[in-house]
Amino acid sequence: MVILDGKKVSNDIKNEIKQQVDKMKGKGEKVPHLAAVIVGNDGASLTYVGSKVRACERVGFESTMVRMSNTTSEIELLDKIEELNQNDDIDGFIIQLPLPPQINTQKVLMAVDPSKDVDGFHPENFGKMALDMSTFIPATPFGILELLDRYGVETKGKHTVVIGRSHIVGRPMSILMGRKGFPGNSTVTLTHSHTKNITQITSQADIIISALGVPNFLKAEMVKDDVIIIDVGITRVPDDSSPKGYIITGDVDFTNVSKKASYITPVPGGVGPMTIAMLLKNTLLAREQRM
Ligand code: GUN
Repeated sequence: MVILDGKKVSNDIKNEIKQQVDKMKGKGEKVPHLAAVIVGNDGASLTYVGSKVRACERVGFESTMVRMSNTTSEIELLDKIEELNQNDDIDGFIIQLPLPPQINTQKVLMAVDPSKDVDGFHPENFGKMALDMSTFIPATPFGILELLDRYGVETKGKHTVVIGRSHIVGRPMSILMGRKGFPGNSTVTLTHSHTKNITQITSQADIIISALGVPNFLKAEMVKDDVIIIDVGITRVPDDSSPKGYIITGDVDFTNVSKKASYITPVPGGVGPMTIAMLLKNTLLAREQRM
């Protein structure tokens, strides 16, 4: 069994990006600048955005965190987005999700200039991805592809089962794994809350990508020997013995499933760190496209 070490690979990628940024600096070029907008005070979202900003510092990017109150109106957020669209100094920006209920997420994501949409959430970019055109691929799916690529995990002709159809992970992942090329060329089954007999489906899978958000959902009895497991779950489960009062738990019962798996991502230290590295990669791409 091989652990797909997202922490190590993401560090490699960040070092590669830093080298490129150092080169840009050496030539007197502008370095990439990422902005992140966060609306409200959700603890997990603040942690993620904090990590994104720290990652920017680490590779030599400029970063701007825009904090807006929980009572921000849709118009106020749309105005802020227009300001970031127009700001020539910002190469790419993200709107951290989820947004408070008074704001229409789809409307907000459509307001982002596609050339600055480093999350790849704008319908234009999502459509390009589905049509194999070059574009920003959403960071978590992009990170999973990169992890499979760097470990040389064969995906061609394999049966990939994706659990969860979120716009951020499950849906794009199901498209990407079926695309021509590597990683890709899989036969894909997309499962969700209305799927019947999920065990029958997962037990036939060569590759399982779980993005459900239900701790320890995937048990050893649900998978076959030598399965490849990508665990995208990152649920905070209350735990008094941990200093933070919670532990981050994946969708997969790691202790038991890892005994049957050929490759598996841990939680934490698997997909999570890859997401941030690929957001940096998209931001570097955005800068290069604006030169
Ligand atoms: N919320 C959970 N994942 C993500 C992500 O990748 N990007 C943004 N903007 N918000 C998220």
